[in-house]
Amino acid sequence: MASLGISVEDRSGVRYVVLDRPDKKNALTVAMYAALAEAVSSAASDDVGALLLQARGDTFTAGNDLRDFLDQPPHGEDAPVIRFLTGLVTTDVPIVAAVRGAAVGIGTTMLLHCDLVYAAPSATLKMPFVDLGLVPEAASSVLLPRRIGRARAGAALFLGEAISADEAYATGMVTKLVADDALDAEAEAAARTIAAKPREAVRETKRLITHDRDALLAAIARETTAFRARLASDEARTVMSAFFQRGARS
Ligand code: COA
Repeated sequence: MASLGISVEDRSGVRYVVLDRPDKKNALTVAMYAALAEAVSSAASDDVGALLLQARGDTFTAGNDLRDFLDQPPHGEDAPVIRFLTGLVTTDVPIVAAVRGAAVGIGTTMLLHCDLVYAAPSATLKMPFVDLGLVPEAASSVLLPRRIGRARAGAALFLGEAISADEAYATGMVTKLVADDALDAEAEAAARTIAAKPREAVRETKRLITHDRDALLAAIARETTAFRARLASDEARTVMSAFFQRGARS
C-alpha cells in the first residue's frame, strides 16, 4: 500500500516500510507519521516477523517536515508522531533499518529504537535540535548518552555535530557498514532471516531487550512537553522560517 509518502507492503513475513518522498528528502509530514504509526503498531497482530525500514532516494530522511512544525505542530497524546514513537518503543516486532545519506532529527533518533541498522558510507546522522531552537525527542535524551556516552552525545546535541557512518559504527549505533549498492539487499536478508526464525522466541527476545519501555515512554512524555513549548517559541519559529528562505541557507 502506498500513501502520502510512505509505502507499506508485507512479503514473506517481512513488513517493508519505505519513506517515499524523495523530492523533499523524505521529510516526514503528519500524514506520513500516521502511516508509520499504523505500520508499526499493527505489525505484531498482523503476524509480521520483522519490519524493514528503508528510504527512496539519496537521503534517509530530512526529519520532521519543517513546514508542518510551523503550520500544524503536534498536539495531544494522539498526535501521529507520538503514536509512531510509542509504537517504536512498544512493538514486539524487531525493526531492521537501511540508511544512506542524511538522517536528520527523528531520522536519527528513530534508529535508536531499531534492532539492526545497516548503513552505507554516505550515512550521516544529525540531531540539530538545539540549532533549531528545539530539544531532543524519541527518548533520545536517555538513549543517546547511554548508547554513545555523555561526551559524544554532547557534541551531537549541543554542537549539532554530524555523526559519520564510521563513527556511528564505532559507537555501536550501526550494526554494519555496507557498500551502497548492497545496502538494501543486506538489510532485507537480515529481516527475512529474522522473520523465518521461531516467532515467539524472537518476540520474547525483543521484549527482554526492551525491558525499559516504561522509562522510555516517560522520557518521551518529558521531552514532548518541552518540545511543544519550544516549537511555539520565537527562537524556533525564526530558525525554521529561515530554512524556507533560500537566501538564508548556506
Ligand atoms: N522539511 C520540509 N522540507 C524540507 C525539509 C524539511 N525538514 N528538508 C528538505 N526539505 C525540502 C527543501 O525545502 C527542498 O524543497 P524545494 O525543492 O521545494 O525547495 C527539498 O526538500 C530539497 O532540499 P534541499 O535542502 O535543497 O536538499 P539538500 O540536498 O541541499 O540538503 C538536507 C538536504 C536534508 C541536508 C537539508 O534539506 C536539510 O538540512 N533539511 C532540514 C533538516 C532539518 O532541520 N530537519 C528537522 C530536524 S528536527
